[in-house]
Amino acid sequence: MKPSASPVLYHIYLRSFFDSDGDGVGDLQGVIAKLDYLQWLGVDGILLSPVFESPLSDFGYDITNLRGLNPEYGDMATFVRLVKEAKSRGLAVMLDFVANHTSTQHPWFLESCKGANAAKADWYVWAPARADGTPPNNWLTIFGESAWRWHPTRGEYYLHNTLSNQPDLNYRNPDVIRELLKSVRFWLDTGVDGLRLDSVNLFLHDDRLRNNPPRHLGWQDEARSDPYRYQSQRYNISRPENIHLLKQLRVIADGYDSKKWLLGSLSDPSPYAVIDRYTSEGDALDAANVFESLSLCCNVSQVGEQLSAFSSAVHPGIGCWSMGNHDIARTVSRWQDANNQPEAAKLLLTMLLSLQGVISLYQGEELGLPEASVPPAQRRDLFGKQVIANYVGRDGCRTPMPWQSDAPNLGFSEGSPWLPADQNHVRYAVDQQQKEGASVLHFTRNMLRWRKTYPALEHGSCRVLAFNASLMVLERHFTSPEGSQTLIIALNASNQDATIRLNLPASATSVPVPHMKAGEPSPSGALLLAPWQVWVGELHTP
Ligand code: BGC
Ligand code: MG
Repeated sequence: MKPSASPVLYHIYLRSFFDSDGDGVGDLQGVIAKLDYLQWLGVDGILLSPVFESPLSDFGYDITNLRGLNPEYGDMATFVRLVKEAKSRGLAVMLDFVANHTSTQHPWFLESCKGANAAKADWYVWAPARADGTPPNNWLTIFGESAWRWHPTRGEYYLHNTLSNQPDLNYRNPDVIRELLKSVRFWLDTGVDGLRLDSVNLFLHDDRLRNNPPRHLGWQDEARSDPYRYQSQRYNISRPENIHLLKQLRVIADGYDSKKWLLGSLSDPSPYAVIDRYTSEGDALDAANVFESLSLCCNVSQVGEQLSAFSSAVHPGIGCWSMGNHDIARTVSRWQDANNQPEAAKLLLTMLLSLQGVISLYQGEELGLPEASVPPAQRRDLFGKQVIANYVGRDGCRTPMPWQSDAPNLGFSEGSPWLPADQNHVRYAVDQQQKEGASVLHFTRNMLRWRKTYPALEHGSCRVLAFNASLMVLERHFTSPEGSQTLIIALNASNQDATIRLNLPASATSVPVPHMKAGEPSPSGALLLAPWQVWVGELHTP
């Protein structure tokens, strides 16, 4: 992967991608087997969901050894082969790297629990109860429960910013930092092209454990349904001192001959200000993804708001964007009025691939794959089961990838898959779509090539010119010593006709978008777009 500012990463949810050994669980050898497919598709690299040793209660976000692989996925030799095979096809490999917390079953935590004199006593964030026995302060987890859990052996509370079986490591302890740096080096030495640091704004907490202040609730806070929104997370997350740790990681990454990417993933009430702090000086992260961002959007005005907020807060503005991931309902099922239609899938892919920065395409998104329905007895997501009432959980976006329409388990596994393959996905299978020229799959492949043919799309800046309930207009602009290029991209992401007035210069010309029926501006400058239609124009400056 060239150190370009805009690679497209294919986000692999490993357990459900391709199972090579029939144990029902996707694995590294399975990824190797599908590298030709990914090369054919035309992505720049892969982002692997956590591969580390884990009891899997949160499917790899609960780690027991950050320098070891989950044996279900394969051994180190296979991992190294995967990196080599990917490289030989021009594909980068990035790892989703979970370093903020471990599993409660991690040997470090088991040791730390023994007591204040234990060898690793300060490797996690421990604090005594208040005089009345209640937790040390009012911090809440992103799921709305107290961020403290009592440990009877230790006789103290431990901090967990996420689930209670994911205790936060104490990055105020230099020994813990040393371990982190060692793990980062360990993986970068294998030849991977970079890491996506999970929960990257949670690494440090306030050393005085001060209470978070209440938050002013705005009109957008709806019903007071989620206690997390009641407070301003001033002291437990996004601490100013967090950046020092990220800078240490940058120093390590920059010590290699080839470009090593450091991406981040975070959640914060003002996420873009945090991203600006982490990316604008070029001495910490390359880019960061925000959970509250596009992956929660269900219509284009929400996307317009997010992109505008991003451009006004983040300088110079390299984003990291995804519409789908393993935590949220599939895009074509979530998006207002999209109803899983292929036209909607194509428009939403066009929108995603029109953005500036690192793009992450979630497995199955290239097929326009809808949310799967998983029967209650076969659901596996603990978060879904434990945390939110009547919430079906995240299994519906994690089911096996449909490779072959007529094979058992849609070609994912010869064994019994850990989550059932959805029979509604038969007609979305890769083999079917490869046969149909007008499929979402071929469309995605063409769009990935299209993105590379315009310097403005590959390297240019991105600005939202206008948006309303149905339409959004983006401007991509690139200047180099050889000249400049400006593209205007108008997207109707709704199932209604939509019109917008564009004051384009007379020299603007339409740019064909492969396999997409495009609108055309009228001489008066009004652009009428049919449902799920796009128009792309190029401005020519004399
Ligand atoms: C992951 C989730 C996980 C959560 C808690 C997130 O970054 O994407 O799948 O449940 O962290 O660790
Ligand atoms: Mg397997």
